[in-house]
Amino acid sequence: MAEVRSVEIVEVGPRDGLQNEPRQLSTAAKAVYVERAFAAGATRVEITSFVHPRAVPAMADAERVAAAVHGGPGRVRSALVVNGRGLDRALAAGVDELNAVLVASETFSQRNQRMSVDQTLAEIGAMAAGAAAAGVPLGVTVACAFGCPFEGPVAEERVLDLAERAAAHGVGEVSLADTIGVGTPDRVERLVAGVAERLPGVRRRAHFHNTRNTGYANAVAAVAAGIDALDAATGGIGGCPFAPAATGNIATEDLAYLLHGMGVSTGLDLPALVDNAVWLQGELGGGPVPGQLSRAGLWP
Ligand code: COA
Ligand code: ZN
Repeated sequence: MAEVRSVEIVEVGPRDGLQNEPRQLSTAAKAVYVERAFAAGATRVEITSFVHPRAVPAMADAERVAAAVHGGPGRVRSALVVNGRGLDRALAAGVDELNAVLVASETFSQRNQRMSVDQTLAEIGAMAAGAAAAGVPLGVTVACAFGCPFEGPVAEERVLDLAERAAAHGVGEVSLADTIGVGTPDRVERLVAGVAERLPGVRRRAHFHNTRNTGYANAVAAVAAGIDALDAATGGIGGCPFAPAATGNIATEDLAYLLHGMGVSTGLDLPALVDNAVWLQGELGGGPVPGQLSRAGLWP
C-alpha cells in the first residue's frame, strides 16, 4: 500500500446517483452539481447517460445537461452509453469521454439493456470504432462483476474473460462494477490484479456500491491492488433502477477522507466536498444522504 500515492476519484453522482432518486433535479441544478464537483477538484465527472428516456426518465435531459456544462483542460465530461444510438447522441452532444456497459450476467444484461452479453460485446465493438473515429476515448464498465441479483455469484474467470474480450476492441480503461454491493475485499484484490495481469497498459477503474456496507473496504482493497480510478457519488446517493434493493455508491467525501487519511492523494478539496454533500441533500429534499462525513464533520 505504501507505494500508492494518488488515485483519481470519478464523480458519478450526476449519473448513477440521480438515476435512482425519487426526486428529479432540473437540468440547471444538474449543471450546478457538475460545476461543484469540478470546483472541488474532480478531474472527471460522469455527467449523464444517453440511454432510452423510457428506461431511465431521470436522464432524459442528457443533451441539455451536456450543453449546460462546458469542457476544458482538467474537466473531462464523461457519459454512459449502452448502444450505438446512445453513442451517436453522446458524440453529437460533444462529451469528452464515454463509458460503455457490459453486464457480466445474462439475466441482468437483458433487464438492463435488453441485449445478451454477446450482443453487447458486438455493440461495444461498433461503439469503440465510432468513438475512435471521433477521437473520443471509450472505456468499458463490467457491471455485476461481483454478483448478479438474479443469478447469484459470477465466476471471477468469467469477469476477466469479459474484460479481455471488451478490451480487445481497443478500449483504454476497464472498470469493475459492484452494481449490487456484494463484493468483498479479497475478491476485489484478485480481480483488480487479474485485470492488470491480463491487460497490461489498460487503465483500471472500480465502482462500488455500499449496499452491504462493504463499499469502503472494497475501495481500500482496490487501492492496495493498484487501481487507477475509483467511482464515487457526492453524499453516497445512487443505485441501479434495474437492480432490486439497490442503494448508493460510496460517498465521494467519505472516500476522499479515508484515502487522505492513508496518505493517498485524490486532488479533491474535502471541505468543498462536504459543502457539496450538504447542498445536494437540500436539492434532494433534505433527508439525510447516506454519506457520513457531512454529518460527522471534518477531523482534525
Ligand atoms: N437513446 C434514445 N433512444 C434510443 C436509444 C438511446 N440510447 N436506443 C434505442 N433507442 C430507441 C430506438 O431508436 C427505437 O426508437 P423507435 O422505436 O422510434 O425506432 C427504440 O428506442 C427501440 O429501440 P431498441 O433498440 O429496440 O431498444 P430497446 O427497447 O430494446 O431498449 C435500450 C434498449 C438499450 C435502449 C434500453 O434498454 C436502455 O436505454 N437501457 C439503459 C438502461 C440503463 O441506463 N441502466 C442503468 C445504467 S447501466
Ligand atoms: Zn452503479
